[in-house]
Amino acid sequence: MSREDPIGIFDSGIGGLTVANAVSKQLPNEEIIYFGDTAHLPYGDKSSEAIQHYSSHIADFLLGKKCKLILIACNTASAAAFTTVKAHVGGKVPLLNVIDPVVSAVATDDSIKKIGIIGTKGTIKSAVYEHKLKILRPDLESVSLATALLASMIEAGFYNNSVSQAVINSYLAYPDFSDIDGMILACTHYPLIETEISSFFNDRVKIFDSTYIVATEVKKKLAALNLLSEARSNTHHFYVSDYTESFELTTKLFFQEKIHLEHCGIWEEG
Ligand code: DGL
Repeated sequence: MSREDPIGIFDSGIGGLTVANAVSKQLPNEEIIYFGDTAHLPYGDKSSEAIQHYSSHIADFLLGKKCKLILIACNTASAAAFTTVKAHVGGKVPLLNVIDPVVSAVATDDSIKKIGIIGTKGTIKSAVYEHKLKILRPDLESVSLATALLASMIEAGFYNNSVSQAVINSYLAYPDFSDIDGMILACTHYPLIETEISSFFNDRVKIFDSTYIVATEVKKKLAALNLLSEARSNTHHFYVSDYTESFELTTKLFFQEKIHLEHCGIWEEG
């Protein structure tokens, strides 16, 4: 493994580009190999077994591309498949997820006494955030809600408008959220509606957006292993398992700049 090897990032689709973008901004010398499993999206409604199978196969693909670290950018896959993929990858490369860094950021913030969590059905059903938070901060109260419509709404371009505001308001009016002092955005897509969520709570709730926190963790991990690249020699690559023009057009929402998607049929190959 060398410092110039790329970082592998994967997600159920293109939403994970929010995480890839944060990594690219914090680590401009690093080359990224991104894989979006658009053929199987959304993961939010899939069984854990299916997500574990997809994720292990994607990890093999990224290992084949000589990635020096793999980051699971998808919350649902981090919840359902982290342990399986970790066992699958073994000690070959470090594997990170988007949950642990956020859990530790919340747990070490003494101003937070009650935290809200929103994410896909799969992430919320797993209760992974609650379990991990309970271990680190037994006094912290957590309440979670599956906000199933939000990811597809954002992907369809509905954010910062009256439609998104109505949907967000209806979810966040959940009575258990009335006295939270922090909120975890446990889904790749939600950074795009962070302002709307914050305004719903009149900006009095601290929002934990995983993208920046996770990118910082990637940097820390690579630095600790002496694997930070000093200069970028290759361009990023963004692979998807099913290509459509609509995915390509939507990438700009999540990566903030125009990028090109490459079709890679890892499922057809076996
Ligand atoms: N990437 C997923 C997540 O962060 C959201 C989209 C999906 O359900 O696949 O949970």
